[in-house]
Amino acid sequence: MLTTRPRGTNDILPNEIDKWQRLEEVLRHVSRLYGYSEIRTPIFEHTELFQRGVGETTDIVEKEMYTFVDRGERSLTLRPEGTASTVRAYVENKLFAGPQPTKLFYLGPMFRYDRPQAGRYRQFHQYGVEVFGSRDPSIDAEVIAMAMDIYTRLGLKNLSVELNSVGCTKCRSVYRKELQKYLEKNKHKLCSTCQARYDRNPMRIFDCKNENCQALIEEAPTIADLLCNECRDHFNKVQEYLKALGIPFHLNPRLVRGLDYYVQTAFEIVAQGIGAQSSIGGGGRYDGLVEQCGGPATPGIGYAMGLERILLTLQKQGVMQEETKNIDVYIATLGEKAHLKGAVLAQQLRNKELLVEYDYLKRSLKAQLKAADRYQASFTIIIGEEELTNNQAVVRKMEDGSQACISFADMEKYLIDNIRKG
Ligand code: HAM
Repeated sequence: MLTTRPRGTNDILPNEIDKWQRLEEVLRHVSRLYGYSEIRTPIFEHTELFQRGVGETTDIVEKEMYTFVDRGERSLTLRPEGTASTVRAYVENKLFAGPQPTKLFYLGPMFRYDRPQAGRYRQFHQYGVEVFGSRDPSIDAEVIAMAMDIYTRLGLKNLSVELNSVGCTKCRSVYRKELQKYLEKNKHKLCSTCQARYDRNPMRIFDCKNENCQALIEEAPTIADLLCNECRDHFNKVQEYLKALGIPFHLNPRLVRGLDYYVQTAFEIVAQGIGAQSSIGGGGRYDGLVEQCGGPATPGIGYAMGLERILLTLQKQGVMQEETKNIDVYIATLGEKAHLKGAVLAQQLRNKELLVEYDYLKRSLKAQLKAADRYQASFTIIIGEEELTNNQAVVRKMEDGSQACISFADMEKYLIDNIRKG
């Protein structure tokens, strides 16, 4: 146990960190372009926030939360997603009193007790955005376009936007009855979870992974047939804007999403041909959630994307280019005095913004030159006793092996000039 990480978690190792940082750079850059500011909320919240926010009948709340009682007897939960926390922060910090709409983004780990497999983990990372204060269909289309903009900039291919409207409380209550009526005679054939959902929230059955339940619901009426005029009008306008923005989408009337707060727009972005965990992002509108969490009635919409899944897709699609890492200067030293001089020189060059490595192991010259190769250094400075007495060092250009004797006084300028030239 001491040497294994908990199931479903990952170490992000130094040789992988570059691609994470490059991904995060794109996310921060696009956030800025679209006018989003970062918010950082706690990793854990009161359990009740997710029970009420995400919904009692969702898989997340029913089966997947990391919940614990702390020493003060409070029930706390590691955040399974970012929307509920962002809504809580929006209300608690009265962000609704500032200029609207409020556009926020977040980036960080989320926790779900899921069955781990490639692309599905118990600790995973999400980038998400939330917009508060606008009901306008143009923002629904814009958040979808923004997600697609990110994927395109990253170089992802073969994506499809699955789009649906899940209606509002008004049309949903009509639909609910229709769905219950349709399932009534087969109710006993549903899995035990869905039997409970039948009464409390039958639309959730669409989200069940049980094949039997899926078969029973295959021919069921969908919400698309029963949208009220207002929801239908909103949905049509979202599609109109998406078309105008040049974002292709696929209407999927069976898309319900795994969280209960959605009304009207719901969408998911799916990567083709990458296997079971193909949903690389999803989101939708949640107009009642702010009010439900104790704030003023405020519309909201957002989405989140799984960063592990994006990286996996980039890799599977062969898009991820390995970045070659190299340093500017490697300092090789021979003897105690040269070692000290090397330490001082390394600092001096780093102060001039050069990437410098230095031998801390007092290895043989051969081993040090090998290390310089491994680092793909542009130049290696070799300092021995003799060089030290002459106040100079040998500078080797690694590319062609050419060497020059450079005085310590000229070293900085020589390296900067040559490295900039290269
Ligand atoms: P979600 O669909 O539950 O939505 O998660 C969003 C994305 O997170 C998924 O599309 C997937 O890429 C990634 N993801 C989810 N679970 C896992 C997992 N176990 N392992 C790896 N990746 C995972 C939400 O979380 C909503 N809060 C999105 C939203 C924001 N809706 C409105 N605003």
